[in-house]
Amino acid sequence: MWLPINLEGQESNMVAKGMKMSASDIYSVNNGSLKDAIVHFGGFCTGEVISSKGLVLTNHHCGYSAIQSHSSIDDDYLKDGFWALSEEMEKPNDGLYVDFIVSIEDVSNEVLVYLDSGMTEKEAFKAVLNSHQTQGLAMRSEVRSIYYGNQFILIVSQRFSDVRLVGAPPSAVGKFGADTDNWVWPRHTGDFSMFRIYTAPDGSPSEYSNKNIPMVSKNPLTISLSGVNEGDFSMIYGFPGRTTSYLPVNEVAQQINTMLPIRVKLRDIVLSTWDSAMRLDPMIKIQYASKYASVSNGWKKWIGQMEGMSASYGLDTLRYRQEQVVKYHSANHDDAFRALDLVEEFNNQISFLEKERQSVLYYQEILPRWGLLRWSRLANDIVNDSDNKVDLVKSIKVLKDFERNYNPELDRRASKGLINSWIEAGLKDTLLNVPVKYLMETSAFMQGLFNKDLYDSLPIKSHDKLDSIFVEQCRNHLAFNLWPDLLSQYRELIAKTRQKEIKFKSGMKEWMRLYMIANNSRGRDVAPDANSSMRVSWGEIGGFSPKDGKRYNYKTTAKGILEKYIPGDYEFDLPSDFRMKLESMDYGKYADEDGELPVCFLAANHTTGGNSGSPALNSKGHLIGLNFDRVWEGTMSDFYFAPERCRNIMVDVRYIMWVVDKYAGADRLISEINFAN
Ligand code: ARG
Ligand code: ASP
Repeated sequence: MWLPINLEGQESNMVAKGMKMSASDIYSVNNGSLKDAIVHFGGFCTGEVISSKGLVLTNHHCGYSAIQSHSSIDDDYLKDGFWALSEEMEKPNDGLYVDFIVSIEDVSNEVLVYLDSGMTEKEAFKAVLNSHQTQGLAMRSEVRSIYYGNQFILIVSQRFSDVRLVGAPPSAVGKFGADTDNWVWPRHTGDFSMFRIYTAPDGSPSEYSNKNIPMVSKNPLTISLSGVNEGDFSMIYGFPGRTTSYLPVNEVAQQINTMLPIRVKLRDIVLSTWDSAMRLDPMIKIQYASKYASVSNGWKKWIGQMEGMSASYGLDTLRYRQEQVVKYHSANHDDAFRALDLVEEFNNQISFLEKERQSVLYYQEILPRWGLLRWSRLANDIVNDSDNKVDLVKSIKVLKDFERNYNPELDRRASKGLINSWIEAGLKDTLLNVPVKYLMETSAFMQGLFNKDLYDSLPIKSHDKLDSIFVEQCRNHLAFNLWPDLLSQYRELIAKTRQKEIKFKSGMKEWMRLYMIANNSRGRDVAPDANSSMRVSWGEIGGFSPKDGKRYNYKTTAKGILEKYIPGDYEFDLPSDFRMKLESMDYGKYADEDGELPVCFLAANHTTGGNSGSPALNSKGHLIGLNFDRVWEGTMSDFYFAPERCRNIMVDVRYIMWVVDKYAGADRLISEINFAN
């Protein structure tokens, strides 16, 4: 995950692997480059501009809440898809924005001078920003630490806040396979949606206005229909969120062996309780589908990380790398014991912090899953607003939104499992900080924390009383204090661990420096850990072997969609018009060399959360696919990238274009796009 400004050092390797561009074609400040088409989508995903009229491509799961917000029972765009037939029909999205990167500059020397003069990091960043004033509307500048404080970059970006929904396939296409297929290969998900950036008539960024016009984009991506082959060069350009590839090996071991099993165990409880209820009751299915998807996304990834780490002997490799660093420095007289001392210090801190980190984890997993707490939090907001004579309309609306997707009985069952497991952990291991006494006393006081009445009596059901009566009902409910009580206990715990975690992090600065010196001495560049800044990863297209004797092909086709199709199933059903279109095999110019319609493909590009929606580019920089996932067997790439089993998953751009063109019939969109021949 290279910083685009450091690509020159990679250029010869990339060219050797087939790239037919120069580093400055990928990133340049003063000349047009691929960079100009890449956007940080809403701050949580990546998108790319694919027409000179500001058309943006990103994932369906990235556009999901925008699509959802325009949906109703009558116009269910999540279910049926949405295609704006004209610009007038494109739908504005309050709060959604895209950021373009204007420039990235290495300001390490400046920051270091300030730091040496005794400033804190925060003060130093401020000083740098002051001496680099930027001109222009909606410009944003920030200084970011790279390599754990060994390098600093100044990022200037420009925000466009009028981003409209243009098109989305039905969820049966955009989310085909849903949670069962999530993180899984072979994959057949058409995970894409389209938006358009609007600007003021003079081209400048502007909030939504009906006078705004589609952005005139100078360097949109060109789309390639010539397809992908095993061994081809590919590149992912986007905004990966967070990786931790250089942590001391004991830290990674603690994550994998101690922390992830706790998280998985707690999520098992929630997911299995929800799942059985969702299967029985279609109403609960609708209410909990989105919660289920987000809880299971992490749960499934972590299981993959634990298994992948073990299958790839990842901890052994990380330990070996760590030893190499120590060895190098031991032979170096200036710093002979520094690396060794650091590792020892880390190891002490890691075991010292273990119980506290575990304790924090229980809070972090349980508090957000316990619906009764969320009720308590929202009820507290209402009561506070009422006490402060603030209009209650807003806070009551939030509570009503919560109620719409809340099932008290299901929450009672799931939270019972969670709390019992929390108490049990606290009783078994007295070194853990678990509010056992509080939970037990509260439970007794409420005649059983899990008595049915407690949940059923929550004052939310169709609130048609006078506000004043409603407020008192909230205030007097037995569960009213649960949230403030547990929150303050959680905050106390965090305050205690914070200093120790800060100390740990400060050690990372020096460790990273020693790590880089040792690697550079052997002619190896080290890519910085991801931190949501713009990055380029590159690698080869290709399948892999997840297990002895088993081989995954690098691509899938529409045949597999029909193979997976289960009528009436909530994950694998298909709309009949879509199925018929597929069966007609009218693939036109989107077919591959065998006459099949390509759907997804794999490559060995290092990606992580945040890379969703990133363009997959070929050797000429043309768009060949849209990144949206990784294979389950390789999700440990966040800690350790194993080239033999870590693969990112992309939708083939030919499938996307087939859906837009042949299924949706959106000619007006196809005609704005630039196809390479
Ligand atoms: N696993 C992908 C990522 O981490 C896709 C998640 C969305 N899909 C889902 N079924 N939850 O974002
Ligand atoms: N699905 C992830 C995302 O939404 C990408 C990944 O974790 O590979 O960014």
